[in-house]
Amino acid sequence: MGRRIVVGNWKMNQSHQEALDLASKVQSACENISEVHVILAPPFVSLIPIRDCLYGSNISLAAQNMFYQESGAYTGEISPLMLKEVCDYVILGHSERRSIFRECNETINKKVIAALKHGIRPILCVGESSRDRQLGDSITAVKLQIEESLQGLSHVGELMVAYEPVWAIGTGESASPEVIDTISSECIRSTLVSLLGDSGKAIPILYGGSVTSLNVAEFLDCDQVDGVLVGGASLDYKQFIDIVNRSQAPA
Ligand code: PGA
Repeated sequence: MGRRIVVGNWKMNQSHQEALDLASKVQSACENISEVHVILAPPFVSLIPIRDCLYGSNISLAAQNMFYQESGAYTGEISPLMLKEVCDYVILGHSERRSIFRECNETINKKVIAALKHGIRPILCVGESSRDRQLGDSITAVKLQIEESLQGLSHVGELMVAYEPVWAIGTGESASPEVIDTISSECIRSTLVSLLGDSGKAIPILYGGSVTSLNVAEFLDCDQVDGVLVGGASLDYKQFIDIVNRSQAPA
């Protein structure tokens, strides 16, 4: 396993000044941390100033979304050409994009292809809904999301997959290590390997959904889990740094 990965998804939070302050505090606290790869995903409007503030640091930047077209009449959208100068990663297929903005796997697939074409590394989010879970369909649902989102791709560059059960996002109810173990090995890893062959073995898998400094160690203990995608707790500087620190030592 390589370095652990901790992604902070700030979602639609923070004024511009608050975002800059948070990024610079995280940067100073992470100065001497080399065992963890920290990636921050601030709102679009703060990406460029935060990129400048993080210049020369060991922290990477991600956008929270991206459209697949390069330019044109797409009011309100941000293209891969605009992002590639600014950040190395992009979160795609987050469940809030899927449920609130009706993004389907076909759209996410176009976004993954566009990101890879422009050298932006996708953090592809997948996860079952509470209905899938109740029906015992979690594995089928997650497998389909991966297959359709990666359709037509035989080479995925430095893709990461984040397993984020929808029922665990922002609810305080995280998935148990047993569920994460089952989904990450029997579904995510096996689907990646069947689609991509040996290169599917090296794709990092993250867990996301109500991660806090108190429970992060349980997730990192899971066999296939290389890191975490943190929402709410990434807005609390002390807690986020605690999560990063706890991600340092191998479990
Ligand atoms: P949460 O969000 O940590 O607040 O549950 C995770 C996510 O949406 O990526």
